[in-house]
Amino acid sequence: MGQFVVKFILLTILVKSKFKSSEFYNMSGTIYKTPNGLLPYQLTPTGSPDAKDLRLLVLGDSACGKTSLLINYKDGKPATQDELAYIPTIFETYNCFVTNKEIGKTYNLTLQDTAGQGDFKDLRTPVYAEIDMVIACYSIDSSVSLANIQDVWIPEVKQTNPDVPIVLVATKSDLKDQLGPEQIVTPEQEERVANAIGAIGHVQASALTTENVKTIFDICIAGYGSIGTIYKTPNGLLPYQLTPTGSPDAKDLRLLVLGDSACGKTSLLINYKDGKPATQDELAYIPTIFETYNCFVTNQEIDRYGYCLLFH
Ligand SMILES: *[C@@H]1O[C@H](CO)[C@@H](O)[C@H](O)[C@H]1NC(C)=O
Ligand SMILES: *[C@@H]1O[C@H](CO)[C@@H](O)[C@H](O)[C@H]1NC(C)=O
Repeated sequence: MGQFVVKFILLTILVKSKFKSSEFYNMSGTIYKTPNGLLPYQLTPTGSPDAKDLRLLVLGDSACGKTSLLINYKDGKPATQDELAYIPTIFETYNCFVTNKEIGKTYNLTLQDTAGQGDFKDLRTPVYAEIDMVIACYSIDSSVSLANIQDVWIPEVKQTNPDVPIVLVATKSDLKDQLGPEQIVTPEQEERVANAIGAIGHVQASALTTENVKTIFDICIAGYGSIGTIYKTPNGLLPYQLTPTGSPDAKDLRLLVLGDSACGKTSLLINYKDGKPATQDELAYIPTIFETYNCFVTNQEIDRYGYCLLFH
């Protein structure tokens, strides 16, 4: 069974591995990419009727650069000096559409900004319940803002939305060229917080140079839509459950079991599709010519559409 699952996962990867090569994103040890990199999504002026909604919330200490990141991303160009100047946010929401033409997927992103000040907690709490994913920001020159992610911000979100996936982002990465190493958070500090909060991804970004800004959102989409990208979460393998009915949007995935006769291939399939141990009758060796089974599996939490598995 274990081996079968591994085969299944490998196949998922093979089926989906048609992406750009030579990109690698260091996600604090989390496997969070296709074999060839992250799937890129581009801003598109118009939405599509079948765009999936994805609500992202940025949070972190005030003045750590959250709003600049959002502006940079939605406008697709570097933030201006005016935009980089710190203007405290109460609440702002931006909307934009992004698409990957190759696989024909469009997302309707809601970018939800938050006020970083402690006294706006009552305003933040209802928003936490509505969001699909958190982008947790700290400033690369402030170890206090990094510590606050673990000590303040993530505990506050998790009170309302305990399982929300988190992408950890260091802002103002351009400061690495201007400040001494003692003024910059260390990779060990970052790694510790990333692991403590169970971040699904971790990147350093700059709204000034635009470095990695787009990557943040590509990670969010990959994490949410599970377009073949997550094959291991921070907590292990992503579980899919059998479901009696499929969704019209289920993706087809064709799997072939092979190996010597009488090695138990058919019993594995029966066991998996029925979700229970094979009976003695089924375990008894009956030579198979060719049989095809069909079943639907889904992971409600991250993949609303699921897969339609076809076993040959
Ligand atoms: C995109 O999302 C926003 C906010 O959820 C919603 O108001 C809007 O109708 C959506 N647009 C489309 C085309 O789905
Ligand atoms: C990722 O970053 C960590 C520390 O930030 C480093 O120790 C590790 O070697 C990096 N991994 C890769 C594959 O670059």
